[in-house]
Amino acid sequence: MEIETTVEYIGSHSAGIDALRTSVTFGGVQRYTPETSNDKMARSGFSQPPLPPIVDTSTGNSIDNDRLPDITFVEPSRASAIRTATSYRTQSVIMGETPRLPPVPQNRANVTKPYVNVVFIGHVDAGKSTLIGHLTYKCDVIDEATMNRLANEADAAGKSSYKYAWVMDKLKAEREKGISIDSKMRKFDSIQFEVVVIDAPGHHDYADVAVLVVSAVKGEFEEGMRHQGQTREHLQLAYTLGVRQLIVAVNKMDATEPAYDETRYTQIEHLVTLLAKKCGYDSDTVIFIPVSAWEGDNLTQLSDKMSWFKSWKIKRRSGGASGQSLLEAIDNSEKPTRMATFPLRIPIHTVYKLGNIGIVAAGKIHSGKIKPNMQLMFAPNNLKTKIRAVQVFREVMDEGRCGDTVGLQIENLSLKDIKKGDVCGEIYKDPPQKVDNFTAQIFVLNRSQPFKKGYTPIIHCHTAMVACKVTDIRERTDRRTGYPAEHAPSVLSSGQMGVVDFEATKPLSVDTFFEYPSMGRIVIRETTGTVAVGVVVYIPGRDIADDFKMRNQRHLTEMSHYGMMSRLLSRPDTTATTKL
Ligand code: GTP
Ligand code: MG
Repeated sequence: MEIETTVEYIGSHSAGIDALRTSVTFGGVQRYTPETSNDKMARSGFSQPPLPPIVDTSTGNSIDNDRLPDITFVEPSRASAIRTATSYRTQSVIMGETPRLPPVPQNRANVTKPYVNVVFIGHVDAGKSTLIGHLTYKCDVIDEATMNRLANEADAAGKSSYKYAWVMDKLKAEREKGISIDSKMRKFDSIQFEVVVIDAPGHHDYADVAVLVVSAVKGEFEEGMRHQGQTREHLQLAYTLGVRQLIVAVNKMDATEPAYDETRYTQIEHLVTLLAKKCGYDSDTVIFIPVSAWEGDNLTQLSDKMSWFKSWKIKRRSGGASGQSLLEAIDNSEKPTRMATFPLRIPIHTVYKLGNIGIVAAGKIHSGKIKPNMQLMFAPNNLKTKIRAVQVFREVMDEGRCGDTVGLQIENLSLKDIKKGDVCGEIYKDPPQKVDNFTAQIFVLNRSQPFKKGYTPIIHCHTAMVACKVTDIRERTDRRTGYPAEHAPSVLSSGQMGVVDFEATKPLSVDTFFEYPSMGRIVIRETTGTVAVGVVVYIPGRDIADDFKMRNQRHLTEMSHYGMMSRLLSRPDTTATTKL
């Protein structure tokens, strides 16, 4: 017989004691019960008309809004491809049966906890989806019934080992191939944060924290660490795109030989530390945890199967931290610094047309904040519009803040006017601009073709992906000193750094790294992998105010492992911006 009891947490952790309730099922797994948004509103004394109940068409039962398995919108074009039981909500919204946005915006001030965006990265099949699936299950975001149903479905398809991964992999194609294709998000509460987990290699630009998942299984780890392996590539990307907090989950510890082998873990920790250092991370701040996503070891509490692992410890400038589980590691993240006072920038990630709601553009607020009725501008097409409502996750809010992933209900524009990669800003406050040419300082990682004039790789910048042609290589920079080492070299080779002019094959909207750091980082890719990383240093016709440069000095020193940016800034006569 199972006895359920609820343990109230009373402790010194001032932030959110009331938010954490843990219910322990004796004889079963420990479940961690976060506060639902209704609890939250009740606590804050704020009342809001409840969303109309949503009915599971397969069972006829109504479903609690806070426990719905699907939290992201789905593009209409994909709706027909989705026929899984978990997607009933998405379908009903697309068909316009359930108004998703209630008319009364929730007061943003009532949401006390900050968000932290956590991206899970790592080699194919390292267990990212399984890890998120099991972690969210343990944090009680997914109820028992849904989990049982997923397990049955996975069993029926002969893929029982994917039951947790299927929490994240909902598309039929993903399930058939066992590979995550689409980007997915889930949200749960930890003590300090509302944690938004993202299972999306390639969506680093969303993230404050990266969880690098490496498999401890013989052969799998080595595969990921190979020169072209994704462990290496994802880590480099994460650092370049500004994700400074790193947690390494050494996964599949249950499948090492022998199981839960300390020697294997130590070896992996050593090798990944070296790699992280090479990518620019400070090894003192990197958290290492041995886990088993499948068995659930060390996810929310210390496992007794690895008695040799007692806790993780790190040193930060702001002080040390230690803990035992992955959840604690995420909870101990430094509160993300947000560029809240800057002008608004939202790179659009997806645009949806929803039944009775109209056009909704979704993206993460990189800087500034957004309120309903704001006059907006979408670059590079310079379309002006007004915003009707701001949705933060599934709740309509009176304000979207820096770091939030928001859905914007837009007036007067159609689906073809806005697309992924467009940037939204405020009309009268440094609006984003159309850019045809820009200059970037890049670091060539890996060059399958000569990096010279005429080369046209795909450039990824925030959510945009545009082919850009190299029109000039202005200089090769000495990586150690930051001074020009050669003027107008004909080619840049692997391991070299240089200042390069690009011409975009179609307009895009970027900002310089000095003004909006996260909007000015670029990654140059080919189908074979990442070719180079860098930052936009100059856009013709755009003057950079001195105070912008000063404000971003911190970000620039972070780039110093490339041996360039801090020096560029400290010696104005050699800055790319003044020189060019
Ligand atoms: P992609 O999305 O394709 O990049 O893969 P992924 O990293 O999301 O991996 P996924 O979660 O789909 O897991 C791949 C396989 O590894 C599945 O068969 C899982 O059951 C298995 N797996 C994941 N974690 C563990 C673990 O801790 N132990 C064992 N033994 N197997 C695991
Ligand atoms: Mg996956």
